[in-house]
Amino acid sequence: MEKALLLYILVFCWHFSYALFTVEAPQSLYTVEHGNNVTMECTFPVDGQLKFADLSVSWEKKDELRKQVYVLHKGKEDFQNQHSDFKGRIKLWKENLNLGQSLLQITDVKLRDAGFYRCIIGYEGADYKTISLKVKAPYRTITQRVVSTRDNEWKLTCRSEGYPRAKVIWQNRGYEDVTGKANTTYEIGNDQLYHVTSTLTIKSRVDEIFYCIFWNEELQENTSAILHVAVVFPEDSNDGVLWTESRRFVGTILILTACFGSVLLFMLCIRKARANKDNRTPMASSSIAKLSKDNDCRDGSFEDEELKYIQIEKT
Ligand SMILES: *[C@@H]1O[C@H](CO)[C@@H](O)[C@H](O)[C@H]1NC(C)=O
Ligand SMILES: *[C@@H]1O[C@H](CO)[C@@H](O)[C@H](O)[C@H]1NC(C)=O
Ligand SMILES: *[C@@H]1O[C@H](CO)[C@@H](O)[C@H](O)[C@H]1NC(C)=O
Repeated sequence: MEKALLLYILVFCWHFSYALFTVEAPQSLYTVEHGNNVTMECTFPVDGQLKFADLSVSWEKKDELRKQVYVLHKGKEDFQNQHSDFKGRIKLWKENLNLGQSLLQITDVKLRDAGFYRCIIGYEGADYKTISLKVKAPYRTITQRVVSTRDNEWKLTCRSEGYPRAKVIWQNRGYEDVTGKANTTYEIGNDQLYHVTSTLTIKSRVDEIFYCIFWNEELQENTSAILHVAVVFPEDSNDGVLWTESRRFVGTILILTACFGSVLLFMLCIRKARANKDNRTPMASSSIAKLSKDNDCRDGSFEDEELKYIQIEKT
């Protein structure tokens, strides 16, 4: 903090006394898409070989509070007081300093990165420039839904996410504005994007089309979708029912097979047991017990009793 303050005071002093040293910003506004990278540039005069030890470079963001983005003091990087907003997302292209360029890269740009940045350089003098960063998130994909509510009445819904806030405009086939019949809600998600849902409730015959347009006025961008009001074919609507029915059918068959199988197995067990009971050899009895275990005949009290009976007979 102290270093930054010192640099700051220096800047103002040098700024007035050494007007020859000037920092330039070739581009004063950058617009970047949320999630992308941006590299902002400042230039300063370097005569011959850069004396690294004399160079101080700093970038800060002008929010309510000044946030430190990057500091290189007398040739040494210092991340100690870097604001947490920027941790791990900042890179200064050091090799470019030799050319008199201070290039600051921000990776994975967030919506909150938008604002004003000050690029400060102290070398043979000190100066700064302010650069503005805009972050956008286009309403790229629109998901839609068409539902029939009553006779000839339909609810058409379009949904998308982006930034900044977009207006939703609805048009019919003839491009007439029908937005008055629509209801649009805005929610801000954890990602800070606007989650926009617009529902048009309208009377229409089938085979009509409507357009929903997400109008991002600030970015002068339109994203639109076409919605078809169409009859839902009976095959389509029955498909789901048929599927569950057929599943139920298969399920029933499986259960029946299993039941039938168990009964068969059970009867087989009993018959074997009976046959062995007649033999009354201990050897056979123990093999019955083993067999019945293996064949899972021990479920059900009846089998158990049958088995006990066999054991008693044996001893
Ligand atoms: C942003 O920069 C990082 C690190 O330099 C790189 O891995 C990533 O692919 C870049 N992302 C985009 C969208 O260019
Ligand atoms: C829009 O939705 C809100 C909340 O669900 C409701 O109160 C309002 O009446 C709706 N307006 C129209 C024009 O449908
Ligand atoms: C976007 O669409 C709206 C409504 O149709 C229109 O008023 C506006 O001029 C369009 N803007 C662009 C940049 O296409």
